[in-house]
Amino acid sequence: MLTAPAPLLPLMLSRLRRKVAASERPLPSRLLNRWLASRSGAIIDPAADIRYPANLTLAPGVRLGRCRLICTGPVSLGERCEVRDDAIIDAQGGPVTLGRRVGVNPFCILYGAGGLTIGDDVLVAAHTVVIPSSHRFDRPDVPMWDQGTSQIGVRIGSDVWLGTHVVVLDGVTIGDGAVVGAGAVVTRDVEPRTVVGGVPARLLRRRDATRAGAR
Ligand SMILES: CC(C)(COP(=O)(O)OP(=O)(O)OC[C@H]1O[C@@H](n2cnc3c(N)ncnc32)[C@H](O)[C@@H]1OP(=O)(O)O)[C@@H](O)C(=O)NCCC(=O)NCCS
Repeated sequence: MLTAPAPLLPLMLSRLRRKVAASERPLPSRLLNRWLASRSGAIIDPAADIRYPANLTLAPGVRLGRCRLICTGPVSLGERCEVRDDAIIDAQGGPVTLGRRVGVNPFCILYGAGGLTIGDDVLVAAHTVVIPSSHRFDRPDVPMWDQGTSQIGVRIGSDVWLGTHVVVLDGVTIGDGAVVGAGAVVTRDVEPRTVVGGVPARLLRRRDATRAGAR
């Protein structure tokens, strides 16, 4: 018995979807970004460099400048998140979850690796780097290159401001309402509603105390 040939268009579309799901760069950026924007309601610069887009979830109102998103793990950007020109989100195989209205400024790098979670209403100033992993270096007789990495993960709460040139190291939790001063290296957990700064970051004051009383 003869069967009717499969309609060509649905077949081509399902092939295209499979290709998009699997590959690093399934389509030229301009085309891919337009397709992602139409599916999600995001506003995406035609030159944004999005790799492995099948792992990317964009909420409506997200704005992506000429940034780079390397989605080797699941990357999720909540409503009205903004990732500006020259910022990078590099999942490194781990999950990266940004809540609503997270602003990631130019030249920031947010790595995934052991997992990165950021709450709502967070400001990340330019040149800040969050690194949820670390090279192992226990053995001086083995090149560090060969010792692998440890990965714990980083959690950043809601209503947090990370100043410019901040570095957040693996295993750190930053509480809701915290401010991290410019140039800080955050090696330990930061309490909610505190202002920290320096290398390593230490308490400068509490936001919920009067300034005079806090010193
Ligand atoms: C941390 C910060 C918010 C503190 O502001 P503030 O509460 O007004 O602090 P003050 O200027 O009154 O300084 C309070 C103390 O903290 C110290 N301090 C301020 N900023 C610091 C920083 N980034 N690192 C280390 N110490 C800092 C001051 O030297 C001062 O110390 P002292 O009491 O021993 O003299 C601010 O200094 C900062 O770093 N802002 C980030 C700016 C930025 O990155 N903008 C990017 C655009 S989004």
